[in-house]
Amino acid sequence: MAVKILASGAYIPGIKVSNEELSKRVDTTDEWIRSHTGIGSRHFAEEGMQTSDLGLAAAKAALNRAGRSAEELDLIIVATATPDYFGFPSTACIIQDKLGAVNAAAFDVTAGCTGFIYCLDVATSMLEANKLGLAKRKTALVIGAETLSRITDWSDRGSCVLFGDGAAAFVMEQQEGSGSSVLHSWLRSKGSGAKSLYLSQPARTSTFERSGDYSKPPSIVMDGQSVYMFAVKAITDIIDALLQESGFKLGDFRWIVPHQANARIVQAAAKRFGIEEERMYLNIEEFANTSAASIPIAINEMAEKGLLKKGDLIMSMGFGAGLTYGGVIIRW
Ligand code: UT7
Repeated sequence: MAVKILASGAYIPGIKVSNEELSKRVDTTDEWIRSHTGIGSRHFAEEGMQTSDLGLAAAKAALNRAGRSAEELDLIIVATATPDYFGFPSTACIIQDKLGAVNAAAFDVTAGCTGFIYCLDVATSMLEANKLGLAKRKTALVIGAETLSRITDWSDRGSCVLFGDGAAAFVMEQQEGSGSSVLHSWLRSKGSGAKSLYLSQPARTSTFERSGDYSKPPSIVMDGQSVYMFAVKAITDIIDALLQESGFKLGDFRWIVPHQANARIVQAAAKRFGIEEERMYLNIEEFANTSAASIPIAINEMAEKGLLKKGDLIMSMGFGAGLTYGGVIIRW
């Protein structure tokens, strides 16, 4: 049996904000943002929309392309750092209800910008485990969805210019035959770096007394330089590990699809490994950093543009809050 990626779909929210427009609100310039990150614009969720709404739209697009109904889904996993509710219920359960996926188990994965990579491994493993026929799970929906604009600290120009909103989804299915779509995965974490990138409001430390300042909504706190240094090393470690464990050579890959965090981080890694720019897929200029949604948005866009041919080998890697990092090798 093999677990295949049947189709993808995305939802890009309609409010597009260029660097010039942002610089009317924030003390920044188009020149600084472009030269330091490669970002030219970002999309923000429409008023009233939550992460589940973006994820739902992406899910419908992917199901439609895959020719599968919501009732056929056995599993829904959502990677997000911006759930509708912090804690519970999971955004996956909200999407499960809105879709009418009455036969599906549903849960979220919290792994920051590496979330979608983690989800690909979890979904593949859960569907493959069905070889014994115990769990009876055949079809999965894997979603990366974020509304980072809702947790952005607009007074911190070092972080607020980086992020955007969006969602994308894959439909994955266990089928007859051999050769799953996700051939290899390598996942790691470095919790010692947790305070490099975190949400400003931790849980209370007192049972009956309120501690901390709960009057402000939670927002992103980032030590940009330490995340930058972590990301550069993470990409190197992921590429080295995936090549060593899979036996593939870098030249075997038609595409390298990194998490779209900062074009400079990615271009530095490309240079170090001698990867030609045209094999490294970057769409950060349009969408900025959409955390767990960035990798599926990129792969979906590549599919829509006809850039992915059946059999192409893709290496994708994520790195971000947790800290987490990891990569997958996909046969399209
Ligand atoms: O998914 C993972 C999420 N996070 C990341 O990927 C972030 C990784 N880190 C980065 O990408 C970079 O560290 C940043 C792009 C966030 C910052 O770039 P940097 O080259 O590390 O800048 P810096 O923080 O060292 O700041 C350099 C200067 C400072 O001014 P002074 O002190 O030299 O006068 C900042 O105040 O740039 C200033 N600055 C800005 N200026 C205009 C910082 N942000 C801005 C801004 N516009 N938005």
